[in-house]
Amino acid sequence: MNFKRTLLITGGAGFIGSHVVRLFVNKYPDYKIVNIDKLTYAGNLANLTDIERKANYEFVKGDICDSGFVQSLFAKLNFDGVIHLAAESHVDRSIANPMEFVTTNVIGTVTLLNAAKENWKTIPSNNKIFYHVSTDEVYGALGETGMFTEQTKYDPHSPYSASKASSDHFVRAYHDTYQLPTVISNCSNNYGSYHFPEKLIPLAINNIKNNKPVPVYGKGENVRDWLFVEDHACAIDLIFHKGKTGETYNIGGNNEWKNIDLINLLCKIMDKKLARPDGESAKLITFVKDRAGHDLRYAIDSSKLQNELGWQPSLQFEEGLEKTVDWYLANQTWLQNVTSGSYQKYYEEQYTKR
Ligand code: NAD
Ligand code: TYD
Repeated sequence: MNFKRTLLITGGAGFIGSHVVRLFVNKYPDYKIVNIDKLTYAGNLANLTDIERKANYEFVKGDICDSGFVQSLFAKLNFDGVIHLAAESHVDRSIANPMEFVTTNVIGTVTLLNAAKENWKTIPSNNKIFYHVSTDEVYGALGETGMFTEQTKYDPHSPYSASKASSDHFVRAYHDTYQLPTVISNCSNNYGSYHFPEKLIPLAINNIKNNKPVPVYGKGENVRDWLFVEDHACAIDLIFHKGKTGETYNIGGNNEWKNIDLINLLCKIMDKKLARPDGESAKLITFVKDRAGHDLRYAIDSSKLQNELGWQPSLQFEEGLEKTVDWYLANQTWLQNVTSGSYQKYYEEQYTKR
């Protein structure tokens, strides 16, 4: 079959990437979607079983830092577009092992940029786009008030956010220096199905279900702006197709929660779902040593995306959270598979250190 476009999605076996791959494979049967993923601890082909046999989907296992592999894939498949999500993504892991973050997030991104630059200079570049998916954490931390806009100065504090900030700078540099058609989005915290249970929401759901302590860092005063992952995937679709080359778009849920308030809400939902007496799950909340360099507050102003491209988040938080809890309770085998083995060992080490 002749496809209208061939797109490369990196990190498509991860949390957000699997939602983006699913959306594009189902919504655009005339696009060929090639997913490359190294399948680190966070990459899981079980996230994609519903679409893995579709005619317009192909998975290739590989490392974005391997320039020979990346260059040959570009030469063979002549991608018209790239949506780059592959990354090391967990702040706590970046504190324990920053080099992995420099390698994948910085060198991996530059390796992809080089391949696109080399491949696209030989063919007309109209309709081509290199879309880099980034985070609001590059902007640093807010105090009690204010929001991150696209003009906010970069001020990353963790090795994770520093590596993402660096990759964003390289993407802009390739646009300005080589006229590579690029676009960047910076999104707030996502939640939803297929989220690896080392991040706050899936970790708390899993621990509450199994009657294990729910670790809340510091006093639980830190604030995050939560967005349902499928709303993020829709924003990526919109920006990929309608965003202006060279621009940056902030994506956020306008949905700020203090960690402790969020966990209390989750405990209430879990009590209801597990038919426990009110207040039972909240007894599992355990305040633990704070994260080093813990950013106080993130809040995203996404008015540019809303006004220029007409994007709106679709779900209220309580509804999205309940949907997410239902998914985890219905997919216990997925959870057991990803929490066995090396992850379990890592988690126990981290937790006992605190
Ligand atoms: P994730 O950790 O769930 O998935 C990352 C994926 O990248 C995994 O499938 C992993 O196997 C793959 N990968 C890692 N290193 C690789 C390499 N060297 N080569 C090829 N594949 C590799 O991450 P996520 O939460 O889905 O985040 C996806 C992207 O979105 C990241 O770039 C992240 O910075 C960004 N982001 C995440 C959030 C969030 O709340 N999770 C918010 C804003 C932006
Ligand atoms: P996380 O899900 O790791 O996302 P990020 O660090 O990228 O924002 O953490 C969300 C918030 O929850 C953050 O303020 C740290 C806090 N947190 C806890 O209190 N306990 C935990 O066990 C985890 C993983 C995070």
